[in-house]
Amino acid sequence: MNDPQALLELAEDIAREAGDMLLAKRPTMSEVVETKSSPTDVVTALDTASERLIRARVLEARPGDSILGEEGGEAAGDSGVRWIVDPIDGTVNFLYGLPEWAVSIAVEVGGEIVAGVVNVVPRGEVFTASLGGGAWLAGERLRCNTGVPLSQALVATGFGYLRERRAVQAQVLASVLPRVRDIRRGGSCAVDLCSVASGRVDAYYERGTNYWDFAAAGLVATEAGARIGGLNGRPYSNDFVLCAERGLFEELHDLLVPLDPQRDA
Ligand code: IPD
Ligand code: CA
Ligand code: CA
Ligand code: CA
Repeated sequence: MNDPQALLELAEDIAREAGDMLLAKRPTMSEVVETKSSPTDVVTALDTASERLIRARVLEARPGDSILGEEGGEAAGDSGVRWIVDPIDGTVNFLYGLPEWAVSIAVEVGGEIVAGVVNVVPRGEVFTASLGGGAWLAGERLRCNTGVPLSQALVATGFGYLRERRAVQAQVLASVLPRVRDIRRGGSCAVDLCSVASGRVDAYYERGTNYWDFAAAGLVATEAGARIGGLNGRPYSNDFVLCAERGLFEELHDLLVPLDPQRDA
């Protein structure tokens, strides 16, 4: 019943159905229905529609499960299984028609993430992972890049919506940029982590994301051999997510720590 493979299959079916619905309905700027933490933190009618569909499908199949979603909050069940949903990760890209956004669904059993799906809808790419079962894309097992020194690393990052934090993020970036091959700011945390898993970038770091941004893609990255964590031995969290193969993780970690990217403003 709580077998990771069965949960993964259900999560994949639901993420594909939500993706098909979103692809059929292209948004326009007028569909921004709300802003959240800042004027740039937008929600469209399709973010909420996607989450509604996902919640309905999960509860049809598994009425006792809990769900945590970006747009709908927490709904508690008693089965010990919890679904973590980002109905569109990369809403700003979605709104502008840029092809870097995803439906992200992770499943926890007893508090541990055992399955993750990231459906990068515009690209028709569905990344999947189950705990101990590897990370996969189109039938191919994924492995992150190894042995890349910091100076040669292509590093993805992102910036939270809170404008008061962006000055610090820009300072961190100004110190990182001269030390690496280059920086990418794709606009979707979930896609960035899947890019680490598939070797399209070497590393990713970001401060101030949320659990639904990285829950599914974090498993994809670790199952592809990457290390994911916070700074100074902390686990990865809403405060900070750093992801890369072990050696590069350590180099980038040591560069980031003195830049103090976890301070508040
Ligand atoms: C955002 C994206 C973005 C990241 C932000 C997230 P949303 O999620 O993942 O890349 O930089 O921190 O909030 O709002 O598009 O689901
Ligand atoms: Ca959002
Ligand atoms: Ca998100
Ligand atoms: Ca979202």
